[in-house]
Amino acid sequence: MTTIRVAHRPALGVYTKIVAVCTFLLLLAGAMVTSTGSGLAVPDWPLSFGKVMPAMEGGVLYEHGHRMVATFVGALIVGEALWLWRIEPRRWVRVLGWFALGGVILQGALGGLTVLLRLPDAVSVSHAALAQLVFGLTVAIAVACSRSWLRDGAAEAVDADAFSLFSLAALACAAIYLQILLGAVVRHTGAGLAIPTFPLAFGRLVPPLDSFPVAIHFAHRVGSIAVTLVVAWVAVRALRRHRSLPRIVGPALLLLALVAIQMGLGAWVVLSYKSAWVTSAHLGTGALLFATALSLALRSRRYLALAPRPAHPPIRPHREPAGAR
Ligand code: HEM
Repeated sequence: MTTIRVAHRPALGVYTKIVAVCTFLLLLAGAMVTSTGSGLAVPDWPLSFGKVMPAMEGGVLYEHGHRMVATFVGALIVGEALWLWRIEPRRWVRVLGWFALGGVILQGALGGLTVLLRLPDAVSVSHAALAQLVFGLTVAIAVACSRSWLRDGAAEAVDADAFSLFSLAALACAAIYLQILLGAVVRHTGAGLAIPTFPLAFGRLVPPLDSFPVAIHFAHRVGSIAVTLVVAWVAVRALRRHRSLPRIVGPALLLLALVAIQMGLGAWVVLSYKSAWVTSAHLGTGALLFATALSLALRSRRYLALAPRPAHPPIRPHREPAGAR
């Protein structure tokens, strides 16, 4: 990440935010396709029943609707990458734009493949996993093009801890993303109700782990405890050490709120026997959790790690040993 001074461009700032919000809505639209079991409601691709616009009824509404939203968001991301390429002086931000573009193209291909191959688990899981990465990229671009990021004198404090807040937030991103991957495997291998009770599993703390669906479902539950601990660690560190920095405190508090909501929604997914709305909200909150941890990592890099540090260790006044003169 370079420290080139870049002027804030309000139009680009707004556009990148719109792209991130629309990508989130696309995630929700995709979640509803799986949650309502509409993945094969349209059996062909790229056309739908050989048409550009089929009758929007039943599962077709979700599946074809998802394709329409995806086409729109794909166009927005093309526009974003080109805009950044034309005017953005920071190379790393332009590269993020190209990655988002490559990701959304690959995502379209995976979406098509998953229909043509009749929803193989590996392709469906990859489609779910890449969707979250593309969303993360659009969020990172929006953060990097925001007014507060580009404001002068952004570095406001020194992070002197051995494990910097940046590295802790990066750890949280990795933990959340792994948990999202586990969730995708649970969902696409049909293991969502492999353990149909909560909080206990078949009346026990640890169920017999002799079948894949039970083992992967249980791994997702254990993963949620690990994610909660890591998120709590990051947030408490941010709140204790940097409570005067609203740009650090904001995402730290949001992380705590989102992880609590996500745990509740996870339980509700099971207790509601996978209500489509609850399950989609669980997926969406997972994405928001990931994006918030990413935003905290970027902000701590920007506002803490770039803080002015002394170039040399402080020079101690020279003292002659007693009696030297
Ligand atoms: C911070 C913790 C959690 C995160 C980040 C998380 C994330 C996710 C995500 C993103 C998915 C959907 C993946 C996809 O289809 O792309 C998912 C699925 C699922 N999660 Fe979680 N989850 C968490 C905690 C929990 C908890 C505590 C439970 C409680 C049992 C739970 C139960 C489930 C179930 C049952 C599914 C599969 C739903 C289905 O089959 O449609 N999750 N999780």
